[in-house]
Amino acid sequence: MPRLLALSGSLRARSSNGAVLRSALELFDGPTGTTDLGALPHFNPDLDGEGATPPGPVAALRTAVAAADALLLVSPEYAHGVPGVLKNALDWLVSSGECVDKPVAVITASPFPTGGDHANAQLRETLRMMTGTVVADACREIPAIGPKVDAAAERVTDGPTLADLRTAMTHLAAAVPRPDKAPTAPEARTTPAAVAETAVAETAG
Ligand SMILES: Cc1cc2nc3c(=O)[nH]c(=O)nc-3n(C[C@H](O)[C@H](O)[C@H](O)COP(=O)(O)O)c2cc1C
Repeated sequence: MPRLLALSGSLRARSSNGAVLRSALELFDGPTGTTDLGALPHFNPDLDGEGATPPGPVAALRTAVAAADALLLVSPEYAHGVPGVLKNALDWLVSSGECVDKPVAVITASPFPTGGDHANAQLRETLRMMTGTVVADACREIPAIGPKVDAAAERVTDGPTLADLRTAMTHLAAAVPRPDKAPTAPEARTTPAAVAETAVAETAG
């Protein structure tokens, strides 16, 4: 069964996105885990050079992402953008390459009718640039999240939202390549160095 790692863009204790994340994990058919992004240092390319020893929390994040078959990002939107804590985590994963070809779902939840559409689009663009596999059918923008969650229980309570989350998690699991269908020869761009080169080339282009 595929293993899922979920990352939250909210550090808040009674986070509505945290509730969405926990419910989504419970609906995923396979082992799941999450990791707190709050302990990550700010991304600094000087600490990310060839052969550098990454800070401990960065190494732990990279190990957790590498061990997962699929990723789930659940996030609020701040000022029409991605929360710094989540963008910071993705920046640490650009050159190390753990997201390459990894199926990823992006879910944003907001108290407003927009559902965090700006942050959702930005996260998907960043992941595409990192050559992750954004699974469109597994991505969601959840509007008016307030009454749909029980913040104390840290779970979604709204029936239709739960049903839709189940559908999203089914799509995400289905996007994980089965071992018997794995490509025989990995593509050249799946090495960390090649990812960094791709990133630089695409940025320049
Ligand atoms: C500084 C700040 C900026 C915000 N900007 C937006 C925004 O641009 N779009 C939006 O949908 N919600 C915005 N919100 C509202 C958040 O979506 C809301 O606080 C949400 O509950 C945060 O997610 P959480 O409950 O998972 O922590 C903002 C909140 C804060 C504190």
